[in-house]
Amino acid sequence: MSNTVAAPSGYAIERIDPAAASTEVEAQVVALMQAIEREESPDDPPPPYEAMAAQFRMSSPFREMHWSGAFHAGRVVGGAMMMIDKTGANTNVRQVYLQVLPEHRRRGIARALLASVLAEIGDESGVVIHTWTTTRMPAGIACAERFGGEPALRMRTNQLDVASVDRGLMEEWARRDPPGYRLEWIDDDVPDRLMDNVITAIQTMNTSPREGLQVEDFVVTPEIVRDRERQRRERGSDHWMLLAVDEATGQTAAFTEINIDRRTPTVLWQGGTATIPEHRGKKLGKWVKGRMMLRILDELPAVRSVRTNNAGSNAPMLAINEQMGYRFAYDNFVYQMTLEKARERVRR
Ligand SMILES: CC(C)(COP(=O)(O)OP(=O)(O)OC[C@H]1O[C@@H](n2cnc3c(N)ncnc32)[C@H](O)[C@@H]1OP(=O)(O)O)[C@@H](O)C(=O)NCCC(=O)NCCS
Repeated sequence: MSNTVAAPSGYAIERIDPAAASTEVEAQVVALMQAIEREESPDDPPPPYEAMAAQFRMSSPFREMHWSGAFHAGRVVGGAMMMIDKTGANTNVRQVYLQVLPEHRRRGIARALLASVLAEIGDESGVVIHTWTTTRMPAGIACAERFGGEPALRMRTNQLDVASVDRGLMEEWARRDPPGYRLEWIDDDVPDRLMDNVITAIQTMNTSPREGLQVEDFVVTPEIVRDRERQRRERGSDHWMLLAVDEATGQTAAFTEINIDRRTPTVLWQGGTATIPEHRGKKLGKWVKGRMMLRILDELPAVRSVRTNNAGSNAPMLAINEQMGYRFAYDNFVYQMTLEKARERVRR
């Protein structure tokens, strides 16, 4: 196996161990991540330094992270992040993300970073690489396609202008109170008595469309939920989940969740929303979304926009969001590439 692509003159590709990295390297990696975020979302408040530093340093027994930096004059000007799922599912997938500061682009740095990632992966058979980018980053799309990636899943980012929300309609949805169901709010950590309900809720996201993406169902266990809570605390953000519970069985029938970073109070990201298949068609989705929206309006008055990613093929979810007032903002793509193709393309 040979993926030795020399770094362009004046640059060096080196592995970075986040646990051992100096505060200077941390600051340079965060500056790189922030520059890419600014490019992707120029109108948004900059993501907080502490949240990004925590993301860089974060370790988890359920995820292996590899970081490499492209160094120029001793400073990080580009990076590759590779993530391997350690929950037991999708062990053949390598999620890879490349980023290069705008002033160092078109010199072959992404190519050299990808070559070093491929060398690290080695000859394992059946490995596929997933990477993602958006129509807001044309260079990202060009790069993923240049190295043999195919767009396997299209996700739309839809955005809701909160000032345009029809409160009366949300109140109507929130008042549905379908007989036989009750609501449970979970702010931040999951109480033990609702752990099974939360696992059912999260696992239902496995039913959302994957289009051409070669992945199997992801795994969620109580330990994984607790580990995600720890990570959320370390990033400094809050989380609200609303469950619709079937009174007859005590099990989850539908849910919705949001992630809140109070340091950037104008923008909110919607997490998952799903109705468990046997409870579909009873408007439970609108019930939980209506309740959540009223709570956002009442308790998070600084929020100006709410964002959500939906598979372009997820008609029921898109229909609810459309009625709430969500409008298309931009497309995201998960690109899939085989190891063989990436190797062939990286050599030119
Ligand atoms: C995508 C990105 C990492 C490319 O970095 P880079 O160092 O400029 O890339 P390279 O110089 O190694 O170019 C690799 C190939 O990508 C393609 N490419 C990169 N930028 C391009 C652009 N602006 N227009 C057209 N093609 C482009 C080219 O085919 C190029 O190969 P070539 O020079 O042989 O034609 C950089 O633009 C970036 O950080 N973008 C934002 C983050 C992102 O979208 N990442 C995508 C995840 S992979």
